[in-house]
Amino acid sequence: MAETNISSGGRPALPMQGVPQPSRNEVLGLPRVHISTHPVMAHKMTALRDKNTQPPEFYRLVKEIGALLAYEATSNLALESVAIETPMEPMIGQRLAGGIGVTPILRAGLGLAEAFREVIPDVQVWHLGLRRDENTLQAMEYYNQLPHRVDLQVCYAVDPMLATGGSAIDAINILKRRGIPRLSYVGIIAAPYGLLKLSQTHPDIDIYIAALDESLNDRGYIMPGLGDAGDRQFGTL
Ligand code: PRP
Ligand code: URA
Repeated sequence: MAETNISSGGRPALPMQGVPQPSRNEVLGLPRVHISTHPVMAHKMTALRDKNTQPPEFYRLVKEIGALLAYEATSNLALESVAIETPMEPMIGQRLAGGIGVTPILRAGLGLAEAFREVIPDVQVWHLGLRRDENTLQAMEYYNQLPHRVDLQVCYAVDPMLATGGSAIDAINILKRRGIPRLSYVGIIAAPYGLLKLSQTHPDIDIYIAALDESLNDRGYIMPGLGDAGDRQFGTL
């Protein structure tokens, strides 16, 4: 149960009220953190954030932004040589070496997972259901479809919103216990607080985001953010 304090007159305290947060500038140089600077991304982000953007368009934009992020996040994947024949002559081509996994953190991560599937159609999708309690901001696991057999070179945990970082940190912990050799996190918007927590807790992963915002409000929502990414994708407003 959330704590109460005197200033709130006995009502539950808001979970981020009075919690110190790093500024944007303080987290800009974190190692292994990649923040998009692409103008097309900035253009799509503005449309995504706009409160007048309705769920069908919002979901389409999540997938478009996700494809740009997937392209960026997969730029260092390992390749192997393969002999093929073009209509003209034999040649040695290259293909991705080893399996690639994507773990959507349900439910808001589903649009990003779809984007990864459009970029790499044979990606394995490992669903993981985490829901954050709105009073405590603790993430709770409610669904897990991670296979026991691991044959991946890398797995991407995808979730549009990195707020306190609790969900992302838990997801990476769960994936690490599966023994995947390389993990990355891909999100759309991060708050400095959650970005710092994720980077400090898991310094061995790459983190790809489209935008770094200013702060969390007292309820743990990203400001200026875009509101609730799950509700806006799936029309449960
Ligand atoms: C949202 C979001 C992240 C989490 C981020 O999910 O999609 O998973 O909150 O917050 P955190 O960094 O403080 O953990 P939510 O729990 O609302 O579930 P949903 O995807 O079903 O909307
Ligand atoms: N989850 C969201 O969907 N939005 C936020 O701003 C924070 C968490």
